[in-house]
Amino acid sequence: MFLDELKSECDSCRRCELCESRNNIVFGVGNENADIMLIGEAPGENEDMQGQPFVGRSGKLLDEMIGEYGLSRDKNIYIANMLKCRPPKNRDPKPSEQNLCIEWLDRQIEIIDPKIIVCVGRIAAQKLIGKDFKVTKQHGEFIEIGGRLYTGTYHPAAILRNINNKPFALDDWRKIRETAERNGLDL
Ligand code: URA
Repeated sequence: MFLDELKSECDSCRRCELCESRNNIVFGVGNENADIMLIGEAPGENEDMQGQPFVGRSGKLLDEMIGEYGLSRDKNIYIANMLKCRPPKNRDPKPSEQNLCIEWLDRQIEIIDPKIIVCVGRIAAQKLIGKDFKVTKQHGEFIEIGGRLYTGTYHPAAILRNINNKPFALDDWRKIRETAERNGLDL
């Protein structure tokens, strides 16, 4: 199956109540052949309006940080979220919503077949790396799961709330770039 076929299937998803309030499904953007895939939490207001992940303030900061290391959504990264629809008032995704939505993400990962998966923020890291993952303690560590390298880093929204987190996140992105190069990945 191709990614655009999966997206068409996802576009009519009505598995949970978030389908009632969404304006758009936010499936994912970027290079579909990328070796690095970034996974955030859920669409916010701007993302829901535009149908693209990370297009608000968080997205601008994210693009700036990854750009420092020659990474970009047009060139060498694919970006998606744990949830494809916006939770009302940007509340945390419920476990039931995550469990219903993860099949879309699993199938995206299978098709894109990234070598490195970067979980941006607690929600993605705890679902994909481990339920006790602490971003503040374990950010920038790499863990091999099922033949892929997973890492977790600060969510840009957490950096916008506390700018002191920015150097840590930048250092994580430096490590991600270095790890990709060391593993001979296509950048
Ligand atoms: N926060 C996320 O986790 N994902 C987005 O797409 C936007 C903001």
